[in-house]
Amino acid sequence: MPEASKGWLVLKYGGTSVSTRARWETIEAVVRSRMAEGFRPFVVCSALSGVSNALETLLADAIEGKHEPTLQKIQQQHRELGAAMGVDAAALLSEPFSELERMATGAHLIREVSPKLKARVMALGEIMSTLLGAAFFERRGLSVAWADARRMLRATDDASAHEARQYLSANCDFAPDAALEAALDATGKQVFLTQGFIASNGAGETVLLGRGGSDTSAAYFAAKLGAARLEIWTDVPGMFTANPRQAPSARLLQQLGYDEAQEIATTGAKVLHPRCIEPAHRYGIPLHIRSTEAPELQGTVISNDTPDFGAQVKAISARTGITLITMDAVGMWQQVGFLADVFAIFKRNGISVDLITTSETNVTVSLDPMANALDPETMAVLLRDLNGYCTAREVAPCAAVSLVGRRIRSILDELGPVFEVFNDQNVYMLSQAASDLNLTFVVDEEQAQRLVRSLHAQLFGERGADALFGPTWKELSAPPEAADAPERWWQRRRAPLLAFAAHASPAYVYDEATITEAARTLKGFTAVDRMFYSVKANPNPAVLRLLRGQGIGFECVSPGEIAHVQALFPEMDPGDILFTPNFAPRREYAEAYAAGVHVTLDNLYPLEAWPEAFAGRDLMVRVDPGRGRGHHKYVRTAGAQSKFGVSPGELPHLKEAAEAAGARIVGFHAHVGSGIKLAETWAETAMRLAELAEPFGTVRVIDVGGGLGVAERPGAPALDTAAVDQSLHAFKAAHPEVALWMEPGRFPVATAGVLLARVTQLKQKGEVRYVGVDTGMNSLIRPALYGAFHEIVNLTRLDAPGAITAEIVGPICETGDVLGHGRLLPETHEGDVLLIGTAGAYGRAMSSHYNLRPPAAEYLLRTDGTITEAV
Ligand code: LLP
Repeated sequence: MPEASKGWLVLKYGGTSVSTRARWETIEAVVRSRMAEGFRPFVVCSALSGVSNALETLLADAIEGKHEPTLQKIQQQHRELGAAMGVDAAALLSEPFSELERMATGAHLIREVSPKLKARVMALGEIMSTLLGAAFFERRGLSVAWADARRMLRATDDASAHEARQYLSANCDFAPDAALEAALDATGKQVFLTQGFIASNGAGETVLLGRGGSDTSAAYFAAKLGAARLEIWTDVPGMFTANPRQAPSARLLQQLGYDEAQEIATTGAKVLHPRCIEPAHRYGIPLHIRSTEAPELQGTVISNDTPDFGAQVKAISARTGITLITMDAVGMWQQVGFLADVFAIFKRNGISVDLITTSETNVTVSLDPMANALDPETMAVLLRDLNGYCTAREVAPCAAVSLVGRRIRSILDELGPVFEVFNDQNVYMLSQAASDLNLTFVVDEEQAQRLVRSLHAQLFGERGADALFGPTWKELSAPPEAADAPERWWQRRRAPLLAFAAHASPAYVYDEATITEAARTLKGFTAVDRMFYSVKANPNPAVLRLLRGQGIGFECVSPGEIAHVQALFPEMDPGDILFTPNFAPRREYAEAYAAGVHVTLDNLYPLEAWPEAFAGRDLMVRVDPGRGRGHHKYVRTAGAQSKFGVSPGELPHLKEAAEAAGARIVGFHAHVGSGIKLAETWAETAMRLAELAEPFGTVRVIDVGGGLGVAERPGAPALDTAAVDQSLHAFKAAHPEVALWMEPGRFPVATAGVLLARVTQLKQKGEVRYVGVDTGMNSLIRPALYGAFHEIVNLTRLDAPGAITAEIVGPICETGDVLGHGRLLPETHEGDVLLIGTAGAYGRAMSSHYNLRPPAAEYLLRTDGTITEAV
């Protein structure tokens, strides 16, 4: 027996994955790599792409005796693939070919296709594809056994079930099956290849598992063999937050529990057949969805090992072709047996009901076309029967749009604004699953696509990638490394960076040229009168000098920051410093005035509690414009949930307090959030501030804060700075009298900085691979704190192809000590240098000595290519 210490691995390949030689080569490569890892591969395949449909056509044509062309077409497709694979299809498939011909002729003679005959004909699609595959594997030197699924999977439906259901949509037993394992062992082979979609009944007749049944077959086999893993290989890399064809910004869902995956599959996602999840779930077999087109991607992992990501919406799915039956009955209230009567009618007509809502006078149910044959005759009979009890009406076509996620009820308050998208919708039905896993809205079918798109934008629009939400469909279909991603400075500077990291890791390195260029871009904003750099983003002295060199002032949030810049630039006019504290103690305001810097107040309290501190002083007021923006909820600094700013409703009160204290309000300020890429944001803020400032009559400055975003992902769109400036010009044109100020922090420094770290150790645990590096959240806390995305590359092997998908972790004793989740890297070794990109802003500035591991030190890469300490 072959040594296969890790047990069985069931791999399932769908139609497009078995239709070309190249795809069979991918299957072979995967099979070999799994064997090398110590697994015993058991491969389950569908029929070639288009063949199941062709077989159905064949049967329809056969009734009229016109089946010959379709028959030829099916044979031709297999012969061509055989030729490409270097196997003799005519010889291998002679038996199924002639059986197909016999059955088509038989159907013609009796002019009827029974479910039993249909099952036999359809089964040949899978029989043929797997015979070709097995011959190919053999030719390539694999020790392979072709196995007939009908001898291994037995249907459990009893003979009383509807005939069509029995033969075309059967269920099978999937209890652990030692006899099957023994039979496979007895062949002495290493790889097994069998068919999806087919099984046999107690009488030994062929039955089908229903459309999409190959996934279910694979899950049955995985359960019977007690597989270590089930891999479903398809043409998309997994489940997404929405159908990517409707919402290209949909993100890959990297980890799901079985219940959530089941819900997403059931409510509309087509990637997995919902029935295949239960067998894997019952025996705790991890289920991986992978793409034959991008075999290196980890895809979606469905298992019991997923962390609890808390209550949140994970996906939006939609099912179309839904029919509603609404039943009005005035007398139904408190009537005994009304529901029993009407549901008996559904049962009698063989119709299964999906969603139900009831009120005192109405019951509405939805019918899913996947579960029912909703032909006009059936519907007419159903309505006629129902009308004997109530006034029944059909509403169609509808779509059921579902928000799916765990404990959705507990976040209804957060979903409030999301529901605005239903404003101009006719919502026929709203249903909240008893499992608390979905919230479903039934609307007109033609609205579904628009609704999915706007719900997706509302819920996931500004979300970055993290452990749960992977790359977007757009990013996956146009890989970021593609030619259109502009070159990053560190690609050009790879050699000096590597030489440097060999002795100085971990290290932050800032590129002088990039900082200077970004500072020039800021100074080039012709609509902005004064630029202040927000020191908190990166207070490194060398960085501040470069910015000061371009004539930029400083925005400080603490006396420490003020002292720091004043020590560095003793000659600087204090008017080039803005003090923008939050919940600061009284004495800090006094000190700031004494130092001669601009002071911004963001609360009424100081004016009322300490009026004398502001007597005769000029003041700026930070206003909360009501709606925040930004890359994460922690950086959206507006709205009632944010501690910043005075709300517009309080302004009249503030005016009185300022007048009473003898202070003059000279500026209005707002900072709505951080990492924003919507160009009009700052002009909108300016307009709003100008409007709010008008009653004051004394306001000469409008400060629109910072927040300018940068492209974190290679190839992602950058903020259109020209458009920002242009929209601000429109504001200036309307308000020529006010000076416009801005205080960006991230923008001039983020992309200029990288964190270099060396690989310390590698690990594989269960389903997860880890690459450890010599620093983590002590140097860069953004991934842990915000789920922020930082590009990570193996600088040592920059041009090597991606080979592993790993969690990039540091040495800190926290589960959250992760720099990147599910990252694609080349084969990586101890000592390799990883580069963590876009780390110049809020990197070292937010670092700590946690675990008494000092954070990475800071260096400057000068324009001459030398790297020196950044001091
Ligand atoms: N002005 C005020 C009043 C601010 O509160 C901030 C940032 C800025 C300007 C600069 O914002 P920026 O241009 O850098 O977006 N640690 C977070 C960012 C927190 C920003 C806090 N306030 C991060 O790593 O994303």
